[in-house]
Amino acid sequence: MSSQTEINYYEQVLNIRQVVDEAHLEDCDEALNICDLSSVERKFHLWQQHLPRIKPYYAVKCNDNPIIVQTLAALGAGFDCASKNELKLVLNSNVEPERIIFANPCRPVSHLDYAREQHVLKGTVDNEFEVYKLHKHYPNSNLIVRFKCEAKAAQCPLGDKFGCDADIDASALMLLAKALDLSVTGTSFHVGSGCSEYEAYERAIKKAKNIFKFGELLGYDLKLLDIGGGFPGSDDEQFGKIAGIVDKAVEKHFPDEHIEIIAEPGRFFVAAAYTLVCKIHAKREVRNAAGKLDTVMYYLNDGVYGSFNCILYDHQVVTAEHYLDDAENLPTFKSLIWGPSCDALDKISEDLRLPNLNRGDLIGFPNMGAYTVPIASAFNGFPLPKTLYFKAI
Ligand SMILES: Cc1ncc(COP(=O)(O)O)c(C=O)c1O
Repeated sequence: MSSQTEINYYEQVLNIRQVVDEAHLEDCDEALNICDLSSVERKFHLWQQHLPRIKPYYAVKCNDNPIIVQTLAALGAGFDCASKNELKLVLNSNVEPERIIFANPCRPVSHLDYAREQHVLKGTVDNEFEVYKLHKHYPNSNLIVRFKCEAKAAQCPLGDKFGCDADIDASALMLLAKALDLSVTGTSFHVGSGCSEYEAYERAIKKAKNIFKFGELLGYDLKLLDIGGGFPGSDDEQFGKIAGIVDKAVEKHFPDEHIEIIAEPGRFFVAAAYTLVCKIHAKREVRNAAGKLDTVMYYLNDGVYGSFNCILYDHQVVTAEHYLDDAENLPTFKSLIWGPSCDALDKISEDLRLPNLNRGDLIGFPNMGAYTVPIASAFNGFPLPKTLYFKAI
């Protein structure tokens, strides 16, 4: 198996089982990420197929792996950056500043200074203090007013922290910007990450239209609508449903093709691209009073302080696969899966059913590409997984 920064090429659908066999993980005590870059490409084409009018600006926070960024940059995606370092990463990947939105409405001055030096013009704003900050530090930037329109249900709601009231505050911000001679060029929203109330997009697009109208009254010529993120990463059928709602709402409220429409998908592009393969390094069998095996506890080499931080922060429910041969007829048991640290919070799952696996056996976790890699820490001295990259020819 080649080194972790090389890209391995394959001819058909990536066979995780085969990769696992070839990686000879029996000799290795660390978990391994298998990253399918073709999955990222497929998602990009799926986006274009469903939402050809809307340009995706990948939300780098979701997975800041430079190879992911370079893959999307080569496909022509734009990027949503939240900090100076994310801006640097994207600019160093041959991305022009026009393809970037600085979509963090509250930024430290040094980060704004960097955006100004690099001519990253587009940036979101949702409060008057930030408008004054821009007036002082980046007066020729393009202000995108971010308003709040939350889905009734989302994995990670964002509205408590970001987005101004669409009816009153957005108008007040535009008035202030006008008085300070700043340029408002668009509006944005985020319905919440992992959104499961799709009509929220239609409500938000309607509100955006009103903001465009108020901007017009002030003499602004708003040209950009940013519909944020919230698109699922591992369910293309659900994505199709959201795309249908978005497409219809855009057609109704923004029929003018001169309005540029962008989005900030994060998990959509990367969630499905990663399979994390972990090894069982210890186990315990829990029996009931009659001595019958009730639960098997497994201790793995990655946990909630590492890649599985997505369970704590992103409220992800993980699924698992084992790699035993001829296991169809084996009995399965309630399986409690722990991470490697000495902390009982480090619990990966208690709801899975698996055959009775042994020390040294592997468990794979699909859909591990979103909000995992950039947040993971090597707590308790357990190293983070290496990554193998694959791409179809
Ligand atoms: C401003 C902004 N844009 C985009 C995203 C990406 O969201 P998602 O991964 O749900 O597409 C986030 C996620 O937190 C965000 O804060």
